[in-house]
Amino acid sequence: MIHMELKIYKPQQFNLSNLTGISDKTLEMHFKLYEGYVKATNELTERIAAILSDGKVDQEEMPAYSELTRRLGFEYNGMVLHEYYFGNMKSRGGDDAPKGSAFRDAVERSFPSYEIWRTDFVSVGKMRGVGWAIAFLDPASGRVSNHWIELHQTGNVAGFVPLLVMDVWEHAFLLDYKPAERPKYIDAFLANADWSAVERRMQSVTTMSAAR
Ligand SMILES: [Fe+2]
Repeated sequence: MIHMELKIYKPQQFNLSNLTGISDKTLEMHFKLYEGYVKATNELTERIAAILSDGKVDQEEMPAYSELTRRLGFEYNGMVLHEYYFGNMKSRGGDDAPKGSAFRDAVERSFPSYEIWRTDFVSVGKMRGVGWAIAFLDPASGRVSNHWIELHQTGNVAGFVPLLVMDVWEHAFLLDYKPAERPKYIDAFLANADWSAVERRMQSVTTMSAAR
């Protein structure tokens, strides 16, 4: 019997309310959804550990083991991306990333202008489908690039660091806007952006050595 020390995640608490254009009702519903991802991540981890507990994955265990392992990408990213998302909004946030900030400097090195980066980020958010718009930093080059993430797990670039994370699943805005009004929600999201959180994420990377 192999004893595995399991990492059990606890849902983070976010002190988030009174946002511009995103209601407290939406946030409370969204926090509950997020907690579901934390729970599912823990459950998958436990079930995989149970299969491994006799030290092997039997032939008949392989289908269940495979499906549980495949679902890890969905649930883990569902958990982590929501933590980034709630963590980069605040009441009375918004405006633009401050001039002279490390984030803005990196954006201006990576795009013809800050405004074009913003147009790109907003346009990624308007893409049809279920997912996320994320501005990532490539720690190896210092470049910022915006990416569309399908569901939670398809399109994340290995080793890239999420700087600004925007949930564009309909549950993020359906209590406040109609499905076709996603652009209004995107405006609201940016009106609540916590640029100091983005800057902290930038700063955490500068000390990281690029391993590729
Ligand atoms: Fe969400």
